[in-house]
Amino acid sequence: MISTQARPYIDASVPVLREHGLAITQHFYQRMFAAHPELNDIFNLGNQANGSQQQSLAAAVFAYAANIDNAGALQPVIERIVHKHVSVGIKPAHYPIVGRHLIASIAEVLGDAATPPLLAAWDEAYWLLAGELIAAEARLSERSGAVQGELRMLTVMERRVESADVMSYYLQTPAGTSPGDFLPGQYVSVAVDFPGEKLRQLRQYSLSDEPAKPWWRISVRRAGDAATPAGRVSGWLHDNLKQGDTLLVGRPFGDFTPTVHASHPIVLLSAGVGITPMISTLNALVETGSRRPILFAHAARDGRHHALRADLSAARANLPQLRTVAFYESPLETDRAGADYQHVGRMDLGRILAEGDRDAEFFLCGPMGFMRQQWEALLALGASPARIHREVFGPELLDHLL
Ligand code: HEM
Repeated sequence: MISTQARPYIDASVPVLREHGLAITQHFYQRMFAAHPELNDIFNLGNQANGSQQQSLAAAVFAYAANIDNAGALQPVIERIVHKHVSVGIKPAHYPIVGRHLIASIAEVLGDAATPPLLAAWDEAYWLLAGELIAAEARLSERSGAVQGELRMLTVMERRVESADVMSYYLQTPAGTSPGDFLPGQYVSVAVDFPGEKLRQLRQYSLSDEPAKPWWRISVRRAGDAATPAGRVSGWLHDNLKQGDTLLVGRPFGDFTPTVHASHPIVLLSAGVGITPMISTLNALVETGSRRPILFAHAARDGRHHALRADLSAARANLPQLRTVAFYESPLETDRAGADYQHVGRMDLGRILAEGDRDAEFFLCGPMGFMRQQWEALLALGASPARIHREVFGPELLDHLL
């Protein structure tokens, strides 16, 4: 609980910090990286360049303070951060560094408005949240049996082109076995070293096959230009990682984990590379011989950008009750209507949901615009919000809190 002395300062300054949020966060990252250049290795410099993490860490602290009496709203966000932090290897010793630079940045950006009691109140709020995160991260690490941030060397047994911009890598231990169990929907951190710059970068990729297979598979979309920070890791993987090579990979984490062992209907909705956790789930439904009604709908630009189609065909052959629908935004001449795709344009749930689907459990993964649109469409069609699950990345995570 935040103290009664701190409370009025937090309440009064939340709108001010929200207004100056981006300036504070930019200042904070510059300050922190200048003092601790080693932290460049754990942060995603692509997110730094496009501003998304610049909003998320500080925005999360402000959102936390703004919602301090509303634990229910915060819990899913905290859970998401905890999984991400454990995956990238955040340690308790990192928290005083972030805290010190965040509070100093509030002071430096707000100037005279940042009075000592106001800064003390924010220090208190930061440490309340930090304490919660540290405790939850320790519990999750213990449960997973992993050392936080531990990376293992895995071997690429195969790589496969999935679409114009997605490549799959099949990973095993050096002994040729599966690297371990996971839940469909979980992701792993992958580390790539750039020795010339003494820089390491981590990225998270969903595991795109199901857990019973003797491999892990990641399906990586080339994110923009390899020369830009955002596209660096995926570009490097596409251009360099070949069969027989090794890759540093962390343990699986993530709390977006569609239930496989259930009997009620399930609807999996994805766009673009958001298809990866959905295919993992679908393959697990195949593996367990599921009888539940399944609707798998995907939105792609065209047939060249429709990844993991071989998995979809195999699932259709094995699950007679499976309905699959593809929406192509602008089909190519070579794309076959009715076979490769069913509808032209963006995903429109009104055209595909049947009466029984309203009671299904829905899972959504894709770019933010897609997620918002489908979320609203599902609510309008009468689906219960408690049954809609979303994989949200970056600052949008906090959208409903700010
Ligand atoms: C109260 C303190 C903190 C809050 C509220 C916070 C909040 C967040 C949020 C909201 C995300 C995005 C999660 C997602 O996209 O799924 C994130 C990711 C991340 N956080 Fe934290 N964080 C805190 C402390 C720390 C500390 C102490 C470190 C380490 C110095 C750290 C390093 C990272 C990294 C490396 C990521 C992954 C994203 C990226 O690479 O840019 N965070 N954090």
